[in-house]
Parts: sequence; structure tokens; C-alpha cells
Amino acid sequence: RIAGPCGLVLFGVTGDLSRKKVMPAIYDLANRGLLPPGFALTGFARRDWADQDFAQVVHDAVKQHSRTEFREEVWKQLSEGFRFVPGDFDDDVAFDRLRRTIEELDQVRGTGGNHAFYLAIPPRFFGDVVGQLKEHGLAGATADTWRRVVVEKPFGHDLASAQELNGLLDSAFPDGSVFRIDHYLGKETVQNILAFRFANTMFEPIWNSNYVDHVQITMAEDVGIGGRAGYYDGIGAARDVIQNHLMQLMALVAMEEPTSFDAAALRIEKQKVLASVVLPRDLSRHTARGQYAAGWAGGEKVLGFRQEDGIDPKSTTETFAAVKLGIDSRRWAGVPFYLRTGKRLGRRVTEVAVVFKRAPHLPFGASSTEELTQNALVIRIQPDEGITTRFGSKVPGTAMEIRDVNMDFAYGGSFTESSPEAYERLILDMLLGDPPLFPRHEEVELSWRILDPVLDHWADRDDSGRGPDDYASGGWGPASADEMLARDGRTWRRP
Ligand code: BG6
Repeated sequence: RIAGPCGLVLFGVTGDLSRKKVMPAIYDLANRGLLPPGFALTGFARRDWADQDFAQVVHDAVKQHSRTEFREEVWKQLSEGFRFVPGDFDDDVAFDRLRRTIEELDQVRGTGGNHAFYLAIPPRFFGDVVGQLKEHGLAGATADTWRRVVVEKPFGHDLASAQELNGLLDSAFPDGSVFRIDHYLGKETVQNILAFRFANTMFEPIWNSNYVDHVQITMAEDVGIGGRAGYYDGIGAARDVIQNHLMQLMALVAMEEPTSFDAAALRIEKQKVLASVVLPRDLSRHTARGQYAAGWAGGEKVLGFRQEDGIDPKSTTETFAAVKLGIDSRRWAGVPFYLRTGKRLGRRVTEVAVVFKRAPHLPFGASSTEELTQNALVIRIQPDEGITTRFGSKVPGTAMEIRDVNMDFAYGGSFTESSPEAYERLILDMLLGDPPLFPRHEEVELSWRILDPVLDHWADRDDSGRGPDDYASGGWGPASADEMLARDGRTWRRP
């Protein structure tokens, strides 16, 4: 799987995403020999830079963030294909220059007319850039060349804006050339959910409401919002993470077996799940949100969210969000899916925990099983990638005492192969035109359809002065999140 002749135009070269993820991933792909020798990378930004200045920026990003060793000969070959086009996103002359640059690259680097446009820019500029690409004839493929556009989340901020964005992209780029990046789908452990479920016989028979009590999907981060105030304020945890990463995880955990592993077959099954999701009627009892308060994290004093640089001190943007969802299908009737995410929590961990019902009968007597909880299967997406099952076992000794034990599968213990970084995998797939790991607009819109009422509910509460609850930095979210599960007689896992 090596990409054919092509180039990539990167919008937003000064942003975090480009420096930390896109540029290093491109170098790593080149270093692994997965890019064509004449690959070209063109930066476009409102900077007074020459090609060499852009190359320096990429160089620094690669040195700091790439995962593979720096090799001078790889760098030299790659960086000869670097170009920079200065200009505003609504500047006709600049887009003309971009067109000429691409034509020149086709000649000198042999990119063959195949170009991807990567929009690592705030969504408010999408309209300008896509409009310009279309107007300057950059968006249209021919019979033997391709043009693709890559967009990063957030894909809109609600259903209506997502539909508008999708309409805009579809009007400029042909069907199948829009690649939406949800980098969770690029993670090895996320792809393994389907292998785990559908390559084995042991798990699928119990993967339903007869045996499963509930599912908890957690993405916890120990960091705060860092330098991303501009992006984060007004977006918040639900739009940033639940709408995309967590809904995709839920779809993979809950979907039926696809007829094949191709994009269309996968999409059909994921869409069926998302279309069957229902929200509880009383959202004030079954959702929770919070903002981290000042405190201590990792031995350091940290600011509260509303004191962070660039955040409105009256902001009601949530840094923690939890929702309870149901799936109206035979397989999942009555099984709640609890989704939660937050910044500045106790530790960084993403996991899916499938918690099973208690045994219908225990013949051991109550005192023997006091320490026995429910069986659980935990898929650890990151870190310490692996899968753990929790079940009861007799404690060695003369009495019949039963206690929880764990059985572990750890990637590190079973595989010597290392996992590619999510962005490497996704950028390569995009350059190959391989779509299974990219959410389609239907999935994106279905996810917003689920989340919109929650966001509206929270906005109503804000209007009546009932904003998000504070929670302690380094803890596990606001008390309201615990109460939300306690109402159902359950507790959150403390990973
Ligand atoms: C991004 C969110 O999509 O995922 C960030 O915008 C978050 O807020 C990040 O920090 C986490 O990604 P990962 O791969 O470190 O879990």
C-alpha cells in the first residue's frame, strides 16, 4: 500500500494540528517509504514566507513530533517538493498562484494532477477556501486525475450547520472525494473493535441485552485546554469529543456484522445504530456537564477553565460532558450506553467497558460474594492498549470466598509490531482513496441529530442561570455525573 503520484496542499500551516500531527505524519510516511518519491507538500497561509521558511517550519515540526528517526536523505528528497503560497483565503490572486504552483509541481515532481486539499483551519474559513478552490478549477478531477478535500472536525456545530457544510463540500467536490477526519478511527485499537467482535465466536453470543447490563464509554484527559482557548470556548466537550469520537466508538461497539469490510457496508451498519439512538426524556436527570476548577494536577498548581488565558470568565462552555443514550433495536433494547469525556480528570484514558448482568443465581451465600461485582469486558483504546475481562474467582483458602480478578491482553505483550500513528494511517488512506475509516456525511448528521437536543437543553439552562457545575482538577468530573448514574443504580468506573 504505497500512494501513487500526488501532492497535498495544507491550509492552516501555522496551527497546532498541522505542526503536531499532519507535518510529522507526512514525514513518517515518507520515511517508511509509503509516499511516492515525487510527493509535493504546498503550504498556504497569510504569511510573508518563501519556500525555505515553510520548509523550516515543517523541519521544526518533524524534529519535535515525528515518530520515526530523522534521516537526512529522506528529508532532502521530501523537502525538495515543498512550496509555499502566501495569501488570504479570499484572495483570488493567491489561488491563481496556487493553481500555477500545482501545475508546476505536476511538471517537476510528477504529481500527475492528483492533489488533496487539507483544511486544517477554523471552520469559519471553509466556505471561502472551498469556494476559491472551485472557482479556480482546483476541485474538479478529470478522467485520470483526482482531487480530494480533507476536513477536520468540528463538522459544523449543530445539525443545521453540518448540513450546510456538507452541502458546500458536495457542491464543489465530486462524490467520494470528501474525507472527514475523525482521528479515533485511525487508531489501531479502535479498528480492533471489529476484529474482536467479528473474528471470534466467544463474544458475539453474549453481546446483547440478554447479557449486557450497560456500556460505559470514557475518554478522559488529564490536560486542560492548553493553548486552544480560541478553538474550545463556545465548542465544549460534547461537540469536541462526544459528537464524533465517542459516537463512532458507540457505533462500532453496537453495530451488526457488516457484509464486508468495505466503506459502504460499514457505513450502512454504523448508520443503523446512529439512527436508532434515543435520548432519555428527562435530560436534566440523564446528562451532566462541568467545568474544571483551579487546583492541582500532577503536582502542579493549575488554573480553572474560566481563568484560562483567552476564555471568557463568564463562559458556560463545558469541559466535561456525560450523556445516557439508548439504542432502539432488538439487540440493545433496555441497555443504556453512558458516554463521558472531560479535561483535567484523574488520568488520561480512553476505554469502552461492557458491563454484564449479575448471575441470575449465586449458590454460595451472600457473605461469600460480598466482594464480587459485575463481569466486565474493557477495551482499552489508550494508553496501555489492550483488553481486560473481569470475572469472579475463588480466593485461595479454606472458605468459599469469591472476588473479582482480571484477565489481560496487552498489545505490548502479544505484538512486536508497532501501531502507526492515527494521522499516518488516515493520510495514507486518503491519498490512496480508501474510504472505510472516514465518516460519511450521513453519520455526521445523525450524530448531530442525537446531540442537538442535549445542547439545546444545556443552552436553556444557561439562560436560566444554571450553567455547568464546577469539578475538581484531577478528579472524575462533577458530582452531578455520579448522581446521574446513581439514579440508575450504577456507578462510573474509575479506570
Ligand atoms: C481531539 C480533541 O479531537 O482529540 C481534543 O479536539 C483532544 O480536545 C484530542 O485533546 C485527544 O486525542 P487523543 O488522540 O490524544 O485521545
